Order: sequence, then C-alpha cells, then structure tokens
Amino acid sequence: MRHVELSASLLLPSDAQPAAFARRQALMPMWGAQPIAEADWAAIWQAQQAAPLATGSLAYIHIPFCANHCVFCGFYRNGWQEMQASRFVERLIAELAHEASQRPAGGRIDALYFGGGTPTLLPPAELARLIEAARRYLPLADDCEITIEGRLNAESATLVAACTEAGATRFSFGVQTFDTPLRRRMGRKHDGEQIAGFLRELRRQSAATLVVDLMFGLPGQDEGSLLADLAIATTLDMDGLDLYAFNAYPGLPMLRMIEKKALDPLPGLPEQAQHYALAVNALRDGGWRQLSNSHFASGGKELNRYNALIKAGRDCLAFGSGAGGKQAGVSYQVQGDLAAYLATPVTEKPMSHMAWQSPQHATIGQLQGALDQGELGAELLAEHPVLLPRLTEWQAKSLLQFANGKVSLTTAGRFWGPTITRELVMLATTNLDTAGATQ
Ligand SMILES: C[S@@+](CC[C@H](N)C(=O)[O-])C[C@H]1O[C@@H](n2cnc3c(N)ncnc32)[C@H](O)[C@@H]1O
Ligand code: SF4
Repeated sequence: MRHVELSASLLLPSDAQPAAFARRQALMPMWGAQPIAEADWAAIWQAQQAAPLATGSLAYIHIPFCANHCVFCGFYRNGWQEMQASRFVERLIAELAHEASQRPAGGRIDALYFGGGTPTLLPPAELARLIEAARRYLPLADDCEITIEGRLNAESATLVAACTEAGATRFSFGVQTFDTPLRRRMGRKHDGEQIAGFLRELRRQSAATLVVDLMFGLPGQDEGSLLADLAIATTLDMDGLDLYAFNAYPGLPMLRMIEKKALDPLPGLPEQAQHYALAVNALRDGGWRQLSNSHFASGGKELNRYNALIKAGRDCLAFGSGAGGKQAGVSYQVQGDLAAYLATPVTEKPMSHMAWQSPQHATIGQLQGALDQGELGAELLAEHPVLLPRLTEWQAKSLLQFANGKVSLTTAGRFWGPTITRELVMLATTNLDTAGATQ
C-alpha cells in the first residue's frame, strides 16, 4: 500500500467548488416524523415488540460515559463514574434480555455498533460481558459486523484482545488529529506520537478491522497540518479512515474558546471545501478507496457496514441510555437521563421520545443511502423525475455528473453531500422548503 506523502500537491484543487452553497446543512434525522403522545408509548411499544424483526436489521448500543468533555464534541453526556458504570452494564444486559423474551423468533441483524460516549472506557471484562450478552440476546448474522467505538490509551491492545475474544470484529478510534498542541487545546490527553504508538502496537497484536476518525476544519488547521495527519494515519496500516468536517454545533465549548481567542479561528466553509478536496485527492493517490462521502478503506477487509446501512434507513434496535432506534415504522429514543434510565423497572423500556416515522421513510433512506455512496442510480432517477432540474443545475456547477444513466457526485458534491441530500430528499418527498434544520 502506498502512503499519503506530505509533499502531495499542496496546490489547492480547482474542483472544490467552495462557494456552491451558503451553508452545509443536513436533513434533520427525524424529518417528517410525527411525535406520539407519551400516554400511548407503552401500548405502541408492546405492538412493536410483537412485530417480526426484518432481515438485514441493525442494532445500536450506547455507552454514555466520557473521561472528559472534549471541547469540539456535542456527544458528551456523563462523566465517568465506576459505580454507575457497573450498574449501567447490569441494566443494559437486563434491557437486552427482557426485549429478547418479548420479541418473536426470527429476523436477522447484520451489523451491531457499540457507540458513545466512550465504550472503551468500560473495563475490558465488562465490555466483553456486554458483547457476549448482545450475541446471546440478539439474532446476529453469522458474519455480523460488531464495532466498538472509543479512545486509545496504553491498554488499548488488551481491551481489543478481550473484545475480539468475546466476538467484536471492528474497532473505531477517535484520533481527530495527531497535532499535539491542537490535541491539547481540544482536551485530549495523549500527544500525537503516543497515539500513533498505540495504533502501531494494536496493529502488531490484532487482526481485527481497525478504523480511525480524523477531523478537518479544526481551529488553525491548514492544508499542511491536514496532510501531515493523513501522512501519519496512512503509515499505520489501518483498514479504514473517517474524515469528518468539523461541525460547529451551537453551544460547543470550542466556540466560546474561539470567541475568547484561546483557540485560533475556524477555517471558513470555502477553506473546508478545499481541504476536503485536497484530502480526497491525497488518499486516492495513496491507493485508498472512498466507501462513502466521509469514509475511506485500504485493503479488502473494511466494509463500513453499519454506517452504510443506517444511512440507507434500515431498521435498528436501540439499547442503553441515549441510544436512538427505529423499527417497523416507529422511531424511539432510549431515556438519555442516566438516573431515570437506571431507575426504570427492567420490565419497561426506558424511553424519552417516540414518533411515527415519516410515511416517506423508505424513499428518504434510499436517497440518503445512495447519496452517501456518491451516486443516484437509474431506478431512483426514474422514480423521482422532480429531481432532474435541480440535478442539471448542479451539474453545471460541477457538483455532479450524469453518465451511464446514473448521477455521480464529484468530490465537491461529496463535500456538500449533507446539503445536497437535504435538498433532494425535500424535493422528492414534499414541496415544503421549511422542513429541514441547521446541522
Ligand atoms: C461520538 S464521537 C465518539 C468518539 C470517541 N469517544 C472519542 O473520544 O474519540 C465519534 C466521532 O465523532 C466525531 N465528532 C465529534 N464531534 C464532532 C464535531 N463537532 N464535528 C464533526 N465530527 C465530530 C469525532 O471524529 C469522533 O471521533
Ligand atoms: S469526543 Fe468522545 S470522549 Fe470526547 S466528549 Fe465526545 S464522545 Fe466524549
């Protein structure tokens, strides 16, 4: 495998289309859903439980603890408390067991994701116990992808070995950047060299699928620092790489730090678009395959199955405080308040929201899933002629190409993927243009 060279053309690509849209704005996850009154939740949940699980479903297990609140992140919920964590694991296993006792036999889950928060904060034996419980209580496919998300430290190789032994197949670690001064300012304890060392050791010891998350568009990040991150990441023999555009969710601690000049300003959207194009070109030159707008793979092992199928709208069972799921036309949120979650009797699903999915959810999933892979096939185009004028407009802006009966997003189109997806879904499913939400 070739690596990304630091010297890979520092010239900004001309195909970035930095000013194509004013905002990068995704479709609201529950767009078109109709909230269900709380008084009806129990009865609807019972009916849900009686519905057979579809073949090709997913499952998500949320571990809502973090060692600290990283200033760039909108996913922080609870600090790490050992006592609460072991109670949490017990409650979670009870949730899995109770639901298994209610659900009719059959159905199949193709991918299971342990996300957070930080699943790798749990002691290896507890995490292994959870993986085993999930395998016992969920109808997992023989080749089910089982991903554990988390952070790296000196014990990562031990944890990965314990989880692999219990059945995990894939590990996704948040690196964000190897730039030590920037890491420190963002609330990350280890320096870039330590992180690279942990990954080298992991690769030496483990044959599991290993993935790292990197971000671009961080404060003070320029083309040089992004290419330096890619140059390091691509020498570590990883199977997959996520490349996320930093999303300035309102209220993030990082935004206050930038205001107070404790951090450099954020690169603007036009610069982000150019950085993305530069990174995609560099990864492609290095022999990496682009599996989705934000995900790249090296070698043949990485499939990114959970992320691809969740975008495509597959049903997903959800467990653990803060998890979101959907099944048979109903979306739901597991209670995110940890105390309330722990206090809910084991015969009840701890819930904080329930809604009927949009009647158009199948179409939404088809469009989202296809656009995340960078293509709209002939069948989808024929089904939605209303999209053609907008697609033609965007072809003129070099955001996409029509060829062989299908539409392919260019690299610029992939950067603007969230905005493009939002607009096309809204066009295909309704004439309202007020239904989206700022990402
Ligand atoms: C749910 S987080 C959990 C990751 C893990 N706990 C960690 O600390 O690395 C998953 C990924 O989301 C991405 N992420 C977090 N905040 C983000 C933001 N504001 N914009 C874009 N991506 C973000 C990061 O790349 C992170 O690795
Ligand atoms: S990046 Fe990870 S550890 Fe940091 S706050 Fe977000 S979820 Fe928690």
